[in-house]
Amino acid sequence: MNSSNQTATILCAASAIAEGRAKAFNVNGKAIFAVKKLGKFYLYRNRCPHLGSELEWEDNAFLNSDGSFIQCHTHGALFEIENGLCVSGPCAGASLISVANQVRDGQLYVLNYPA
Ligand code: FES
Repeated sequence: MNSSNQTATILCAASAIAEGRAKAFNVNGKAIFAVKKLGKFYLYRNRCPHLGSELEWEDNAFLNSDGSFIQCHTHGALFEIENGLCVSGPCAGASLISVANQVRDGQLYVLNYPA
């Protein structure tokens, strides 16, 4: 999996995150989180582009009530799960920082992180 300049860090078994759910991780001191939607994983830094705070309001609670958006608990900003774009709230038009990832042999990896 590794090329000469690519690192891969295992996060968890892909099955450890249920469909439509999210999970927080700490990689080398950096907070990130993963969301699983329609079988795909989307990973972001756990840092709101508005004030820089972490997004969840309790452990692994990164989504709004119907699971359709990532939501920041501080001021309610909503972010698209697939691309991290803020579509509502004080940082509308800004984006979460995406984190490259890969599923291989049933394991979820973060790639080239921290960049
Ligand atoms: S800190 Fe996230 S919306 Fe204000």
